[in-house]
Amino acid sequence: MTALLEVTELTTRFPMAGKEVPIVDALDFEVGRGEVLALVGESGSGKSMTALSLMRLVPKPGRVASGSVRLDGEELLNLPVRAMRRVRGAGVAMIFQEPMTSLNPVMRVGEQVVEAIRLHERVGRSAALDRCRRLFEQVGIPDAAERVHAYPHQLSGGLKQRVMIAMALSARPRLLIADEPTTALDVTVQAQILRLLRDIQEETDMSILLITHDLGIVNEIADRVAVLYAGRIVETAPRTALFENPMHPYTQGLLRSMPALALSGRRLPEIPGVVPSPSDWPTGCRFASRCSKVMAVCEGVLPEFRVQGPGHDVACYALQEAASRGEKKGVQQQEGAS
Ligand SMILES: Nc1ncnc2c1ncn2[C@@H]1O[C@H](COP(=O)(O)OP(=O)(O)OP(=O)(O)O)[C@@H](O)[C@H]1O
Ligand code: SF4
Ligand SMILES: [Mg+2]
Repeated sequence: MTALLEVTELTTRFPMAGKEVPIVDALDFEVGRGEVLALVGESGSGKSMTALSLMRLVPKPGRVASGSVRLDGEELLNLPVRAMRRVRGAGVAMIFQEPMTSLNPVMRVGEQVVEAIRLHERVGRSAALDRCRRLFEQVGIPDAAERVHAYPHQLSGGLKQRVMIAMALSARPRLLIADEPTTALDVTVQAQILRLLRDIQEETDMSILLITHDLGIVNEIADRVAVLYAGRIVETAPRTALFENPMHPYTQGLLRSMPALALSGRRLPEIPGVVPSPSDWPTGCRFASRCSKVMAVCEGVLPEFRVQGPGHDVACYALQEAASRGEKKGVQQQEGAS
């Protein structure tokens, strides 16, 4: 069976410094049915722009320049606008970091969810309100029957995010894109919201594309991980493989700077340097200016992806060099033995 979401060579360009820069550059990834894929990377790596590209919501003057986005086998990039509107919601729903910017401050939250339900389904107001109450219960909003009448400012950050999740679930999406859904919340509430997402995913068999810069969150909830650096995926792996055996120097740096390590009282090592700005990307590996393993070959052209283990792909010349040294050694040993 094919994956629920298949993304191939997805490229989104923005005009910058007199050229069109690929902010999202030839991304290949899949989200399986019932799978949680985490897209991780530092600020500015292109995580949100990838999500917006999938939804065809890239702000002008940016544009999805090429590639393919298939949901259940259906190409989204050339769907007519009306059909795409149906996909947003029932096919793919999205929640954002800051619920306040997505909720209407002068409308009761129940009304907003009722509107969302009626956008996708022909149901009367009172049936929609019943569903809204059930959705509020499903997302763990206490006193759901009363809370539907609340205005956003009467709810805590965690409850507002739960309302947003209820709204996203209202059209029974097959894929939920969650862009930093817990960043604005305190740590305890973060954990509750993550558990909620995982529970809902298990109950409904929905797939989740979780966008975060926080590897702690990835470790809590993801099945698989794609690491993004300067608009390119540099490593994809099952979660356990990524944490036990990170292979790309950037992933290794990210893991070394994980806050959990600070519990031991050690200062967290940061990856030296900064992500280059898109208009200054080099022609070779974009991590080269910060990489301790950089070699002459890295500065030439972008490294290709190579399979390094089951479901574990990495784009890095150091690994390719290591593999070819291993092969040469193997050949020499064989020749020596004959
Ligand atoms: N509207 C825009 N016009 C031009 N460039 C943009 C626009 N929005 C984002 N960018 C640039 O695109 C790149 C990727 O941005 P994006 O918002 O996708 O990063 P991100 O990984 O989501 O970062 P964060 O973790 O801070 O949310 C950045 O270099 C950013 O400056
Ligand atoms: S390709 Fe070269 S510069 Fe890039 S991460 Fe690998 S070793 Fe470092
Ligand atoms: Mg973002």
